Amino acid sequence: MAEINLLDRLPVTKRDPLARAAGKTEEDRRIAKQFGRDFFDGERRHGYGGFRYDGRWLPVARRFVEHYQLEPRAGILDVGAAKGFLMHDFLQILPEAEVRGLDVSEYAKENAHGGMGELINLGSAEKLPYPDRSFDLVVSINSIHNLKLDDLKQALREIERVSRAHKFISVDAWRTEEEKQRLMDWILTAETYMHVDDWHRLFAEVGYTGDVWWFIP
Ligand SMILES: C[S@@+](CC[C@H](N)C(=O)[O-])C[C@H]1O[C@@H](n2cnc3c(N)ncnc32)[C@H](O)[C@@H]1O
Repeated sequence: MAEINLLDRLPVTKRDPLARAAGKTEEDRRIAKQFGRDFFDGERRHGYGGFRYDGRWLPVARRFVEHYQLEPRAGILDVGAAKGFLMHDFLQILPEAEVRGLDVSEYAKENAHGGMGELINLGSAEKLPYPDRSFDLVVSINSIHNLKLDDLKQALREIERVSRAHKFISVDAWRTEEEKQRLMDWILTAETYMHVDDWHRLFAEVGYTGDVWWFIP
């Protein structure tokens, strides 16, 4: 496995963890964790404050295709696909690919972009409804840290199981005390977050062999 930033073509998002920490309540977290309209398209204190397609995932999809040298008919799964933006952009680059998404959010599936709702399965990452070795690439970006530790371990095993080749995840993490504080101030929905060294220990424990990058606000 490798630590590799395959998200480096995303625009830099300006975040203010201190301001969020000052305003954030338990009620905000409860609402955000439902992953409904409030989380995606409600107020900023409940999540994205408007989750709209703007093409930013196209360079990321291209980066994945190039890095993993995906074939035109590759099978690709996005765990935590939300409204299917990345799925849609994979299909821009590889129109014959077998793209699927999985998400717990009915709202995101119903409001998915460009017909992606049909390709999104409702479900939770610790129980992927696909046979072993179904996909050439399984990605999960900023999603599985929303699971509690035991379910997160199972989600990692599931990602490993349904992939026949490549895996890439991005999860909440820190390297320094300052980064830890910023993350604590920022997080709304995450249940499992830790130092990057602890993540590596966890990957070894569950047998996750894919690549990883870190969400550090
Ligand atoms: C921060 S968003 C990230 C969405 C997308 N991957 C991205 O990077 O823009 C987290 C996503 O994880 C989904 N999610 C939360 N819990 C989940 C679970 N147990 N299984 C699968 N998806 C989950 C949410 O509905 C949401 O779409």
